[in-house]
Amino acid sequence: MSAVRIGLLTGGGDCPGLNAVIRAVVRKGIDAYDDEVIGFRDGWRGVLDDVQEELTMESTRGILPRGGTILGSSRTNPDKREGGTELVRRTLDRHRLDGLIAIGGEDTLGAASRLSLAGVDVIGVPKTIDNDLGATDVTFGFDTALQVATEAIDRLHTTAESHHRILVVEVMGRSAGWIALHSGLAGGADVILIPELPFDIDEVCRLIGRRHARGRYFSIVVVAEGAQPVEGTMSVTTGELDEFGHPRLGGIGQRLEREIEARTGFETRATVLGHVQRGGTPTAFDRVLATRLGLAAIDAAHDGHWGSMTALRSTQIELVPLAVAVAEVRRVPVEEYERYGVLFG
Ligand code: F6P
Repeated sequence: MSAVRIGLLTGGGDCPGLNAVIRAVVRKGIDAYDDEVIGFRDGWRGVLDDVQEELTMESTRGILPRGGTILGSSRTNPDKREGGTELVRRTLDRHRLDGLIAIGGEDTLGAASRLSLAGVDVIGVPKTIDNDLGATDVTFGFDTALQVATEAIDRLHTTAESHHRILVVEVMGRSAGWIALHSGLAGGADVILIPELPFDIDEVCRLIGRRHARGRYFSIVVVAEGAQPVEGTMSVTTGELDEFGHPRLGGIGQRLEREIEARTGFETRATVLGHVQRGGTPTAFDRVLATRLGLAAIDAAHDGHWGSMTALRSTQIELVPLAVAVAEVRRVPVEEYERYGVLFG
């Protein structure tokens, strides 16, 4: 099989396991195929501005257990740059690249899909702690974020119980509540609030009050940062938009802290986990999944499967069309969330 010259980039929020993908692509590319791999800095920005470095066995040694990405990342949207598609093409031509492997979430891969439709050869690898990409059963990074959030809930339980407090834990999850739901279930939360279903603050307080009536004088409320109250019931603020039109989130935990305390009279404190969930070493599950996706991506490049994304389907890594993968965000089905209602309060 003839060698290829491939460009690699990581875009969007950093995520545990990105380095494991980079390592897998580089090792298999160089060792098995004699490829050359160019790493672009900071996502699509590096491709647009042509900032890159050659990736070698030496430069990718020891990165498997490291969080973040050795390539850097950004939320740069090539569609927002004048002549963006042409700039990408020119960079590929300048370096005589056969194509790109883009590791990212809905935004980075959405851009990859549009570029692919415009004739740029690109293969996607799905990542995001939010676990909200369609066409793959799970994304790497989610398992690590889930472990971090669950451990935090376990630790917060201690203070909640000792001080008879309501502790609100704000976790990540822009438009999907997978981290909130799974960490809340694993940590035995009393209330779980997700972006898919606007919450009723009266119901939240009723569940907390019911626990008190049953002699449980503390509660854990897990809220996804993208959760919203039912319209007109509680005021919330939203932050500035990024290049993909997403607002900077964060703050719903503090709003709930004030609201619950005011309505119930019980002392309430909020903890925002934020980027702690994205940092640090990936779990073994995420390292293995990321490695498998990376190996499949470099194989796909050799087989000329441009315009596709590597995905976990059941136990197998398969290729799915990029356009299908980014067509819809994978949200928590409301009926699945409601199934766990019996455990709340
Ligand atoms: O997409 C992953 C994610 O962590 C979301 O859960 C969150 O809303 C967003 O990224 C935060 O991004 P940033 O670090 O750029 O503010």
